[in-house]
Amino acid sequence: MNDNERSLIRCVCKNDMDMAKQYAKLILSENKAKSNERFCADMLRQLETKKSFELPPNLQSMLFVEDPLETMNVNRYYLSTRESKIAERIMQLNAVSKKLAELGVNYVNSTLLYGNSGTGKTTFGRYIAYRLGLPFAYLNFSHVINEYLGGTVKNLTNIFDFVKQKKFVLMLDEIDAVGIKRGTKSEVGELSRIVIGLMQCLDNLTSDTVLIAATNRIDILDPALLRRFTVKHRIIELNRIESKEMIHMFFSDVGVSIDETEADFLAATEGSQAELMNQMVMMLVQKFSREGEMTVS
Ligand SMILES: Nc1ncnc2c1ncn2[C@@H]1O[C@H](COP(=O)(O)OP(=O)(O)OP(=O)(O)O)[C@@H](O)[C@H]1O
Ligand SMILES: [Mg+2]
Repeated sequence: MNDNERSLIRCVCKNDMDMAKQYAKLILSENKAKSNERFCADMLRQLETKKSFELPPNLQSMLFVEDPLETMNVNRYYLSTRESKIAERIMQLNAVSKKLAELGVNYVNSTLLYGNSGTGKTTFGRYIAYRLGLPFAYLNFSHVINEYLGGTVKNLTNIFDFVKQKKFVLMLDEIDAVGIKRGTKSEVGELSRIVIGLMQCLDNLTSDTVLIAATNRIDILDPALLRRFTVKHRIIELNRIESKEMIHMFFSDVGVSIDETEADFLAATEGSQAELMNQMVMMLVQKFSREGEMTVS
């Protein structure tokens, strides 16, 4: 056992996890054995990324940060050509964000996704984080508004200040929970103040933040808030050809074969991508149940 390994064990016994992680990093980076190379690279990556996920205590119940490498299965994600164009645009902007900032050009990489429930708005945000190799910071406005009505503007300011210090893909989900038109019947004084506060937060963002917002009620959003998003994109339900591609991707990833009649049957599913996913899972269950019956008999 070498000194670093001894120190690591000492830290674990004292429950000093911060120092234990430092020694673990040292041990991993000093490893010379070829057979451990992949393991060490993987563990180092996890230690580096996990560290950047640590949220200040006052944000922990509002903002959720995840590693999209762990939560996004791209083998089951169907990217239509419509969303592919938007993804390319977001990534292109991200690649030149530093240059834009150096030139004093402030162009916020902000996209508003809208469309029916279950069409994959939140999943698209996670996919972008995956493609950019960045943590996915997720803020659901309906949670913020329910729990923190009084101090929402302060909370939003804290969240945006935190997000600006590190590089994240920030997803503002269900933005209609706070972004409703000011001066309409449904206006509540506090909500109106929140919209203004949110817009101020958005105005202070720099071009290196990747911001994605989502709503299924674009019709009730404040026009001034809408203007803050440089791209507004509607995600629609898949057509039959696209559905079939999504079906084949899914079944190939789970390693279960499916014939053309079954695929056609599934592709005829009416509704959203989420609905199609439900039907595919149902078919999988039926297939497994049949297999089980055959094994028993
Ligand atoms: N493009 C896609 N490829 C594969 N599965 C998808 C896709 N889009 C959506 N899904 C499936 O549908 C589920 C729901 O998607 P998601 O939560 O992203 O929809 P949403 O538009 O955000 O819905 P809501 O408006 O209700 O929040 C996902 O968990 C996933 O299983
Ligand atoms: Mg969603």
